[in-house]
Amino acid sequence: MQKFIITGGKSLRGELALQGSKNSSLPIMAAALLCCGECTLHCCPKLTDVYAASRILNCVGCRCTFSDNMAVIDSQVVDRTQISEELMREMRSSIIFMGAMLGRTGECAVSVPGGCELGPRPIDMHLAALKKMGVDITESGGSIVCKAVCGRAKGAKISLAFPSVGATENVILCAVTADGETVINNAAREPEICDLCGFLRSCGADIKGDGESRIVIKGKKQLHGCEYTIMPDRIAAATYLSMVAAAHGELILTNACVLETEPFLSVLEQTGCSIYTSENKIYLRSGPRLRAVRERIRTMPHPGFPTDAQAVLMAALAVADGTSIFEENIFDCRYRHTEALIKMGADIQVLGKVAVVKGVERLHGANVQATDLRGGAAMIIAALCADGTSEISRICHIDRGYEKIEEAVRLLGGDMRRV
Ligand code: EPZ
Repeated sequence: MQKFIITGGKSLRGELALQGSKNSSLPIMAAALLCCGECTLHCCPKLTDVYAASRILNCVGCRCTFSDNMAVIDSQVVDRTQISEELMREMRSSIIFMGAMLGRTGECAVSVPGGCELGPRPIDMHLAALKKMGVDITESGGSIVCKAVCGRAKGAKISLAFPSVGATENVILCAVTADGETVINNAAREPEICDLCGFLRSCGADIKGDGESRIVIKGKKQLHGCEYTIMPDRIAAATYLSMVAAAHGELILTNACVLETEPFLSVLEQTGCSIYTSENKIYLRSGPRLRAVRERIRTMPHPGFPTDAQAVLMAALAVADGTSIFEENIFDCRYRHTEALIKMGADIQVLGKVAVVKGVERLHGANVQATDLRGGAAMIIAALCADGTSEISRICHIDRGYEKIEEAVRLLGGDMRRV
């Protein structure tokens, strides 16, 4: 099993071009199967989750090929409607193929998805919304069989109890070819939703209001192929910025999505780092020691502070001057990384959804196991600013969301290798 060996204590400096967004690529790849034609995706990151999505596309009859960061998806033929449990278990995003399959064929057989263990991750809102769109759903023993009653889903008024990203995506994917108009109230406003809608509009879909809480979709009989560039990854941006901030360094991030990263930047600024932005660049210079963040850092749906940046910022604040407080409001169990950080010398107390991080002067190397994608990235950040050497195992979690992270770290002057 592969692992990372990291020797910490070096200042990180340099320029990095941001990878394409994982959380955009996955729904866009699912959306490609709605198109009767070929889709070419640029800036598609080389991630294990992306390859898992391509296996799902191939298993329902599409042909998905990659060359470098370009994916070509030929979905002229979709002749199977069952996705195996094995493929569904590989990642949480497999569940959004349900909406896409219903939009393309009017039926599908899937099962409960896998993905990061962040506490209970039910799909009740997904299923309730699809039922309102005239889809018959039978659940038994983990399998979920869906069939549009009239062979095609119908437009409906959907009010989500919580602005769930996945539920919003599933409704959009089912609604773009449904019979009639669908309105989603309390929709998720994440930038990845806008990117998905941008892609679907390029395929001929009629969608308005993405980025707002109310989205209106007029169903079309058919969508066509297109060429599209996936947005940069704002969580990868938050990760590299936290990494360099904790390592007293300097970073120029190019191909950055500045506006979409703003909810994170406005908190990072409070640590005393100098941050300048231009059209698609973020420049950061970190001082001799970060300051703790005075305000409580509450994770919220976009445009609030992103839950996916909680762990990476926490790792940086573990060596800040003073005490910072986090409040995790999206997932019930998203502090699993704290055990490893404490093993490296951090002073963190978790009380339910609150974590109190008392900055320490120095961390030290240790052998730790990645618990999930962002938790694993937090361990890399801690190891890079620790004295001595660390070993991080179960890095398969990290490869799900970061493209060759060890090469990026080496580019910035860090000592990290994959063995
Ligand atoms: C997406 O997950 C992202 N994943 C997550 O990023 C991200 O943390 C999350 O949105 C929130 O921003 C992808 O885009 C692939 P949700 P998703 O549905 O769609 C509850 C990463 O690190 N809920 O918005 O699963 C749910 O349990 C990953 O890249 C229900 O109760 O998130 C959670 O507590 C991790 N019932 C909350 O809502 C439902 O039917 C938010 O979930 C659906 C969700």
